[in-house]
Amino acid sequence: MERLNIAVFVSGGGSNLQAIIDALSTDLNQTTIKCVISNRKEAFGLKRAEKYGIDAHYFGIGNFPDVSERISQLLLLLNNYKIDLIVLAGYLAILDERFIAAYKGRIINIHPSLLPKFGGHGYYGLKVHAAVLAAGEKQSGATTHFVDSGIDTGRIIYQSSVMVKADDTPEILAQRVLREEHQLMVKTIADIQNGVLSIGL
Ligand code: GRF
Repeated sequence: MERLNIAVFVSGGGSNLQAIIDALSTDLNQTTIKCVISNRKEAFGLKRAEKYGIDAHYFGIGNFPDVSERISQLLLLLNNYKIDLIVLAGYLAILDERFIAAYKGRIINIHPSLLPKFGGHGYYGLKVHAAVLAAGEKQSGATTHFVDSGIDTGRIIYQSSVMVKADDTPEILAQRVLREEHQLMVKTIADIQNGVLSIGL
């Protein structure tokens, strides 16, 4: 079994990244996180990577103001790492057509709702959970999906649902969903690692 080389993209706290790191000695023991990328210099996810000796790179407006040049340099870096799979774990910057084409069928994302509901432009972070509550949904959950040129529109891989409770706030629902995300993220990567789930063209 070839090792699965992944790059994890974060923009925030990186708890999904942490779930992947925590599984490297068990379910993901044939997976290597070659690098962590963030569009935000202060992303705690970069600090999590550094703590585990994983290469952490900031690619954002501060060091690559020109988006096209940023993507070019990012693709060069990823090529050098020989990345098999791109994992978007709370990554809030848009990847352009060139990037999507370069890793066609090899980019996955996790979203904190039962897509296609509550996905797409403007649905991120607590906004997702506020919309779920405002709509009076009885359940919500997490979705992993392949990334295409749309926002949260690629082929769905796995979903895991949770109950919505009457007294839920967006914050409380977010935490319940986040626990499902962590499990779903690891399961999705493990199935790719083990050849259960095919990737690529
Ligand atoms: C998660 O809820 C994820 O679904 C969404 O952004 C959040 C990232 O959380 N895309 P973390 O940075 O992995 O803790």
